[in-house]
Amino acid sequence: MSDARFRALSQLIEAQVGIKMPAGKRFMLEGRLLKRVRALGLASVSAYVDALFDGHQFEDELIHLIDVVTTNKTDFFREPAHFDFLRQTAVPELMKLRGSERVCSFKIWSAAASMGMEAYTIAIVLDEMVRSGLRIDYRILGTDISNPVLRIASKGIYDIEVLTQVPDQLAKRYFLRSRDPARAECRVVPELRRHVNFQRMNLMDSTYPVDRDVDIIFCRNVLIYFDKPTQRKVVSRLCSHLRPGGFLMVGHSESMVHSLVPDLKQVRPTIFTV
Ligand SMILES: C[S@@+](CC[C@H](N)C(=O)[O-])C[C@H]1O[C@@H](n2cnc3c(N)ncnc32)[C@H](O)[C@@H]1O
Repeated sequence: MSDARFRALSQLIEAQVGIKMPAGKRFMLEGRLLKRVRALGLASVSAYVDALFDGHQFEDELIHLIDVVTTNKTDFFREPAHFDFLRQTAVPELMKLRGSERVCSFKIWSAAASMGMEAYTIAIVLDEMVRSGLRIDYRILGTDISNPVLRIASKGIYDIEVLTQVPDQLAKRYFLRSRDPARAECRVVPELRRHVNFQRMNLMDSTYPVDRDVDIIFCRNVLIYFDKPTQRKVVSRLCSHLRPGGFLMVGHSESMVHSLVPDLKQVRPTIFTV
């Protein structure tokens, strides 16, 4: 594609998704776009970009373009210190703030949920706390911009390989293995899935359709793709959905949000409270 088309495309991606697409990523972007070029039966990436800007299917194609440019890597129990903090510190401190409530109801938001592993890991940790006798109830919301990952998240069906990321006892308790050995799949048990909902949401939107009394927000491994002004806006908007004393967790390479939003109190390198 021409330099001008690449610039227009990278501006479009940054405006719609927030993801920076500098010249250094041009090769990667062209490689990923080939999937759409083939799917649409076009001759080249240039033809795709021309069709995107000149055609009438712009809005429909934008959804596919977003799926092409987003990086969905995720795991169960990824960056496990956050889940230790959830169990050992966040839940006990938030329960203290609630005082006399008989059963404490928690709202947790996985704000770049990808295929749902983060949301289900949170559910496993909280369910283990319930089993140990804690009087809590919980709802977990997972949001993401990408429709294909949200479909996987909602089903909660994964390749059996993911179970290597989950301690054995928890894998036995919270996953069902496919009865058909030819399908090497497992599924999160319904008792856990009923606590978790997924919906599409773009972090670039100026308002978020989410409650304003969320206890804990996980927004991990997505801010890194945004430029500083976007990071600042997104983190400020997220924090406006936290209840006082609530926590925000970001990815291990995203602790810089602290310097961008001064109202945040840093309680661990990548954990903040308001
Ligand atoms: C690398 S994954 C991180 C998943 C999970 N939070 C974790 O740490 O394992 C980043 C996710 O952010 C999503 N994403 C990228 N831009 C987004 C945006 N503007 N709004 C909402 N989600 C976005 C991508 O679709 C992707 O699923």
